Amino acid sequence: MKRPLLSIIPNQTVNHPFGYQYIQLICNRWLEILILAWKAGIGSRPHNHHLSINFTHVLSGQLLERKYCLSRGQLMVVSEKVIHQGQWTWTSPNEIHELVSLDDAARTLHFYFPGRLSLNSKQAS
Ligand SMILES: [Fe+2]
Repeated sequence: MKRPLLSIIPNQTVNHPFGYQYIQLICNRWLEILILAWKAGIGSRPHNHHLSINFTHVLSGQLLERKYCLSRGQLMVVSEKVIHQGQWTWTSPNEIHELVSLDDAARTLHFYFPGRLSLNSKQAS
């Protein structure tokens, strides 16, 4: 029987205020690794990771990724794509993006270089 990914270490699962769950696997000044579990329609809201480079791998399900720019103080969508199981996406330092789950089975693995802890960011996506 296949077990849900986040049941492997349930005591370390954190409920984010935006509605997804995450587990922090590694967090130090050089590297941060998270696994996120998403329900359909749940999203990260637009954010950036400041000076961290982010790589995200879709472990299961699919998500919509939007990237934004700031124009005269307003967020403008500059790209939108669906990322499927097995695919990667990434963000450059200070790039603004948003992830929205398209199904109840979405699981994602996130790498941040350097770890956001060293940059005083509290967002988990
Ligand atoms: Fe992000």
